[in-house]
Amino acid sequence: MARDILVTSALPYANGSIHLGHLVEYIQTDIWARFQNLAGNRCIYVCADDAHGTPIMLKARAAGIEAEDLIAEFGAEHQKDFGDFLIGFDNYYTTHSTENRELAETIFGRLSDAGYISRRTISQAFDEEYGMFLPDRFIQGECPKCGATEQYGDACEVCGATYQPTELSTPVSVLSGATPVERESEHYFFQLAQFEQFLHNWTHGEQIQDAITRKLDEWFEAGLKDWDISRDAPYFGFKIPGSDNKYFYVWLDAPIGYMASFANLCARRDDLSFDDFWGRDSNAELYHFIGKDIVYFHALFWPAMLEGAGYRTPTSIHAHGFLTVNGDKMSKSRGTFIRARTWLDHLPAEYLRYYFAAKLSGRVEDIDLNLDDFVARINSDLIGKYVNIASRTANFITKRFDGQLASALDQPALFDEVAAAGANIRKHFEQRRFAQGVRAIMDLADQTNAYLAERAPWQIAREDGRDAELQQICTTALSVFAQLTIYLKPILPQTAANVEAFLNVTALDWSHLDTPIVDHTINKFKPLLKRVEKDTIERMLAASAEDLAPKSADHSSTVGDTASASASDDNNTIQIDDFAKVDLRVARVAGAESVEGADKLLKLTLDVGDLGQRQVFAGIKPSYDPADLEGRLTVMVANLAPRKMRFGTSEGMVLAAGDQPYLLAPDSGAEPGMPIK
Ligand code: MSP
Ligand code: ZN
Repeated sequence: MARDILVTSALPYANGSIHLGHLVEYIQTDIWARFQNLAGNRCIYVCADDAHGTPIMLKARAAGIEAEDLIAEFGAEHQKDFGDFLIGFDNYYTTHSTENRELAETIFGRLSDAGYISRRTISQAFDEEYGMFLPDRFIQGECPKCGATEQYGDACEVCGATYQPTELSTPVSVLSGATPVERESEHYFFQLAQFEQFLHNWTHGEQIQDAITRKLDEWFEAGLKDWDISRDAPYFGFKIPGSDNKYFYVWLDAPIGYMASFANLCARRDDLSFDDFWGRDSNAELYHFIGKDIVYFHALFWPAMLEGAGYRTPTSIHAHGFLTVNGDKMSKSRGTFIRARTWLDHLPAEYLRYYFAAKLSGRVEDIDLNLDDFVARINSDLIGKYVNIASRTANFITKRFDGQLASALDQPALFDEVAAAGANIRKHFEQRRFAQGVRAIMDLADQTNAYLAERAPWQIAREDGRDAELQQICTTALSVFAQLTIYLKPILPQTAANVEAFLNVTALDWSHLDTPIVDHTINKFKPLLKRVEKDTIERMLAASAEDLAPKSADHSSTVGDTASASASDDNNTIQIDDFAKVDLRVARVAGAESVEGADKLLKLTLDVGDLGQRQVFAGIKPSYDPADLEGRLTVMVANLAPRKMRFGTSEGMVLAAGDQPYLLAPDSGAEPGMPIK
């Protein structure tokens, strides 16, 4: 019986561009949704931009625009990127919508009425100059444990200690530089512990991945804590009904955004009813695809909220690992922090879709995009195995038989075998074991190529009187090619459409697996896919390194991206004289070495021309190999008062941007010691 399925991907934040890491998620969800539809189920795929929260508010301020405009801009960019990666959302919406506001209010109201919301006054760091409460990541100070300076309010990057922001000595607000004061404010809390029994049962359901169940057990053991779901103004989000100046925390209304996007779709689609999918006794299935970093929100808060508010709960969550490139975390300096658009500028979307599919095992493991392996894989699988079947046979049909396929197959057993493999491939796809599914499909392609090698139609074509045989061999190959296309269609929807045009057939799906294409006229074969060349990859990496360098400050924003956040805020403008106090100089890295016992720090020796040499500690180790830095030019603050650190004295500061972070570099022509004006 056909199933009704609603599937979602996590909602990307509306303050940064989509990159290949994100695409691990959207591509696999899309493949799964397409597979379900091709296999005869009704699968609806919705998503949205996650538009609320402090970083978005501050980023808009920094850019001098309204938050609404910022999220509209990123919303449009995201949709374009997703569209070009062939992500076939049924609806792509935003959490900053009427539907979402109404649903958030309804859910909050029901949870309140049922006694799941409490209120109490808490004390938090407040920036008096900026007039706002400071999230932990917006406070810096000296680590209470090791004394390292400039550590964030939640954890020390030098010694790894975690603590409360109030424990930092000499804390400062990263927004204004002011010393935060303690201020009290009343907050709303969702009492997660009331759902302990329910959550325990839910997370031990057979649909939940084992790795997730184990992780959740750790959280159960640690005890379920109340969840703070409110934030004080100023905040970009939804006001809490009945409060004067409180907002829902972004993570409260973000998952509700799944419902809101679906509700918005229902308004346009007569065949869909909101209650059929979200009502308590819904028969539909509901799956959330998410990254491993947001399991807590989706496996604890979200089902508890739904249960408490009288909605159905998710059938399962499907968690995946993180993307690495060439075995390492994506790195801006190596050019492996690749944006969706940069990829599209150089390579077909379907190649990434295929490669990810070939790597995704359905487990919560990180997956690696190894670019050499990528080139080999695409060329050998897609071009060498799959397309090869058609390119070796189609022209005989066109040239010798006027496009006409035979009325019977030369080798029906091969066709039957490929059809019979469908059950197994289907099982793999259903379980999101795309890698195993792809392997099974490529095994069939191997068999088909072996059949062609044995029957050698190119030889038969040279012999007289063997036309019927030739036509039947090519008909067999092309019928099997259609079957393989059906299997690959969730992964390669565009190529599948091109194949349908070439074979002159209507849209292929799983119901066509058992019917060979015979007595039928096909169109002329046009090359379907091109080989990937290594230098295309090189060019993409170079472009990636380049386009991230100047723009990162405005595009790759995270909560840490605050350097730009204060620049144009009214409370925080500076005069030109203030700026003139900063002595910025071009510096050449004369030496760079790791600092024993510090994960993030490099000790740099900088040549600053007539100012001589300076020793500076910089938290840039995550992005740089010290050896690569030597000889590079960068920009430093040369008149910063020296600071004693655990590892020595730091005599200045180099300029680096972003969370990653990466060093700013002057253009060629600049010399060490030159002042920046
Ligand atoms: N806005 C939240 C999700 C709210 S869902 C109600 C968020 N956004 S995100 O933009 O940071 O991430 C969106 C999704 O992409 C998440 O599932 C996240 O795990 C995934 N990924 C982001 N970077 C990734 C990699 N480098 N690799 C794989 N997945 C990654 O979290
Ligand atoms: Zn420390």
